[in-house]
Amino acid sequence: MPTEGRPLDYVTIDFDANVATITIDRQEKLNALDPQVVEEIGQALLELEAEGPRAIVVTGAGERAFIAGADIGAMSVMNPLEAKRFSEIGHAAMALLDRSPIPTIAAVNGFALGGGCEVALACDIRIAAENATFGFPEVGLGILPGMGGTQRLPRLVGPALAKELIFTGRRISAEEAREIGLVNRVVAEGEALDAARELAAGISANGPLAVRHAKAAANRSLDVDLISGLEYEADQFALLFATEDAREGMTAFSDKRKPKFEGR
Ligand code: COA
Repeated sequence: MPTEGRPLDYVTIDFDANVATITIDRQEKLNALDPQVVEEIGQALLELEAEGPRAIVVTGAGERAFIAGADIGAMSVMNPLEAKRFSEIGHAAMALLDRSPIPTIAAVNGFALGGGCEVALACDIRIAAENATFGFPEVGLGILPGMGGTQRLPRLVGPALAKELIFTGRRISAEEAREIGLVNRVVAEGEALDAARELAAGISANGPLAVRHAKAAANRSLDVDLISGLEYEADQFALLFATEDAREGMTAFSDKRKPKFEGR
């Protein structure tokens, strides 16, 4: 599937069947995020939303890093207004990951520090290679996580652990990240991308509208009280009964055959 818009210098998009992979490729800086890279991630995700793959995998180029954080050199010369803008474009790009109707999976192949951890956190699911390292070094630089880390980490691992990690900047291994629920699964070094793509392929075999609405419902659970969330779930559940995919999925079960979902 072709992509349109401004050519991207640091982000590539590949398709394999219904799964798109976004690769952040700035290896000489361990894929660090300067404003251009963050804008390009946002642009790539917007283009993908229009093209409609059934799952998106996000990874970093090279063997060493997923993303080694926001670009410290670029941040060192920012004034407060520029820093605010940087944080805001970061928030917008991260929102395209967790609020996108398409499921997003981070394939964490190495360092995921600061902004790198925040990109992973914004994805729906995280798969890490066993050599991956997670951490929030920002306070050691005299700043704080500004691309969603202070908000998404407590929601994922609980406030006490999140505060410990953010206040100390302590780096943790992939295995510890899995133990605290920051990572879904740990795989052998070099296998995170394949494992994430395999997971994405499994998701993309399911009814795409069902997955889309299930993601929206699960996201809603983070924003509202239980009663409101259940009402929303009932509405999404009902909505799917108006789709051809729901008829196809349930008929295929009765016919003892595999469903053929068209996303309608
Ligand atoms: N911002 C800008 N440049 C970065 C970077 C970042 N977050 N992380 C790595 N780089 C650059 C290094 O400056 C170096 O560039 P150079 O060759 O021009 O000097 C290059 O990437 C390779 O990194 P290097 O530090 O030589 O690799 P290493 O294996 O010795 O260490 C890290 C790897 C990830 C431990 C180390 O680079 C690091 O601590 N990076 C910063 C992590 C961080 O604080 N991130 C949060 C920022 S808010």
